[in-house]
Amino acid sequence: MSEIDEIKQKLDIAEVVGQYATLKKAGRNLTALCPFHSEKHPSFFVYPEQQSWHCFGACNTGGDVFAFIMKKEGLDFGEALRLLAKRAGVTLPSYSGAEAKKEEKEPFFSANEAASLYYHNLLLNNPAAAGAKKYVEKRGFNAKTITDFQIGFSLDSREALKSYFLERDFKEKTLVTAGLLYQDEQGKTFDRFRGKLMIPIRDARGRVTGFGARVLDKSDPKYINSPQSPTFDKSGTLYGIDRAAAEIRKQDAAIIMEGYMDVIMAHQCGVTNAVACMGTAITETQVNILKKLSKNLILSLDADAAGEEAMLRTVGYENILNAEMRVIILPAGKDPDEVMREDMEKWQEFVKSAVPLVDFLFEKTTATMDLTTARDKSAAVDRLLPVIAAINDPIRQAHYLQKLADLVKVDMNTIKASLSRIKPSPARRQSTVPKPAVGGTLRPLASSSREEYCLALLLQYPELREYQQDIRPEYFKNSENREIFNILHGPEDITSLKEQLDPALHDHLDVIMNKSLPGARNNIDIRLMDCVLELRKTYLKELAARRAEAGDTDTDPSRIEEDLEISHQLRELDARKGKKRNSAPHRTRR
Ligand code: UTP
Ligand code: MN
Repeated sequence: MSEIDEIKQKLDIAEVVGQYATLKKAGRNLTALCPFHSEKHPSFFVYPEQQSWHCFGACNTGGDVFAFIMKKEGLDFGEALRLLAKRAGVTLPSYSGAEAKKEEKEPFFSANEAASLYYHNLLLNNPAAAGAKKYVEKRGFNAKTITDFQIGFSLDSREALKSYFLERDFKEKTLVTAGLLYQDEQGKTFDRFRGKLMIPIRDARGRVTGFGARVLDKSDPKYINSPQSPTFDKSGTLYGIDRAAAEIRKQDAAIIMEGYMDVIMAHQCGVTNAVACMGTAITETQVNILKKLSKNLILSLDADAAGEEAMLRTVGYENILNAEMRVIILPAGKDPDEVMREDMEKWQEFVKSAVPLVDFLFEKTTATMDLTTARDKSAAVDRLLPVIAAINDPIRQAHYLQKLADLVKVDMNTIKASLSRIKPSPARRQSTVPKPAVGGTLRPLASSSREEYCLALLLQYPELREYQQDIRPEYFKNSENREIFNILHGPEDITSLKEQLDPALHDHLDVIMNKSLPGARNNIDIRLMDCVLELRKTYLKELAARRAEAGDTDTDPSRIEEDLEISHQLRELDARKGKKRNSAPHRTRR
């Protein structure tokens, strides 16, 4: 038994709630004036048998003992856990590792923040920064931009930052881990960034995670970045996200560029929904972050630098996004930075004429080919079929197959046959799935395992997360599950889900993540919908039953209307379920 279950078993919800509200008996249950909002007639109920509570009044919510304490004391799950563990006399194992990790990040954020100010101040005020200042001016950045992005300069010295920071009580070890100092093999430390233009990189919350540092001459490499650290992970970083996130949501589009300079110039020119992916290709983590803000991702990347392999992966990300990405095509050799500086109207036109990613790849691949020759036809098919195979949406896939067949003037069936060699067709994949044992699939799931099944689908198949909108936290009666759902549904990047989750729930999360889901990818959307409908139904049914029980003590006339609404919703769910059953493809196999 987990500590959480032990706490639930040892504590009586009536006793816990009783410390915050005066409970009166109402049949098998207890009732009180809601401890969360002020009211004249009690609409708050405690259900000792289910060890749960519900407020039918303004709160219109409920849950278990954890949910109660979290709401009442304004605590997060971990804090509520510790408080209740104490009350129940349950000793929690120390999660020193994970807990400490969370707190341990703080010093690195502060060191980076301090460094950002330090570098910025040097650029503005130190005579040694004259060259850097000139460079920034030459690049066309104005004073407001320099302040907004806190652009800075590092002195060309091995000890400048080091001695300044050590004098101010920063620990050498912290500075090394934060990536501000470099440590050689003999253990000697010195400033990592020397004589460079410093660009602080911030996360979505505006915390400085690291730096991009540009040389001020033509030497190589052009940029050095902070090393991987507790705060800096290059592949998950979107430069400019702190300033762009709200705008991306508002404009319902994000423009993804390659470089720091491009993004800074973009914001100066009023293109406030621009972020940089910090290299030649966008990563899955970055797509997942942006997806929560908008589905319209417009790439403005250097097409030559981006390898085909990377682009192929990018097509795969469209499946996560469940939408097409588009590509802005700029004149050869030009960065967004240059185009925007020269002529904003032209830039806007380029944005307007952005083409779907797959069309762009068609264009790019065939531009230098002679498609009247057999050799180039074959080469075009070889390169483009894997791109088409990566498209999950069958209609879009068919569209591009047709386009390819037309382009090389080869019969559609020949092309289709080649495609099936790359990727088994849905029908073939279906037939390899072992048939479920008779009767085995019909056994109803217990409600908590249904909650877990729902979470397992959402966690294991990211493409299902668009359905999250249909799920309410209250469908999860178990606070552990509800907590995981809330984080999944929250605004932060879920690649750090585990980090955001209280360590006490890590085992539970692991179980869900590793839950084997029979049937692999088949009909996952239908399976999820089914599961969500069941959760919703259970929720509404229980709600209806509780309202009926609560009936005699409740004098609110709007209640009758709400009861009608609930039974109406239940009937609708049943109807929807029946309809879906009949129309769902591959659902009943004989
Ligand atoms: P670019 O070479 O296109 O640089 O690299 P840029 O941002 O346009 O820089 P300017 O205009 O010449 O000043 C695009 C991005 O790739 C990463 C950086 O994030 C850069 O912004 N990069 C590039 C590196 O990390 N290291 C490098 O040596 C070069
Ligand atoms: Mn550039």
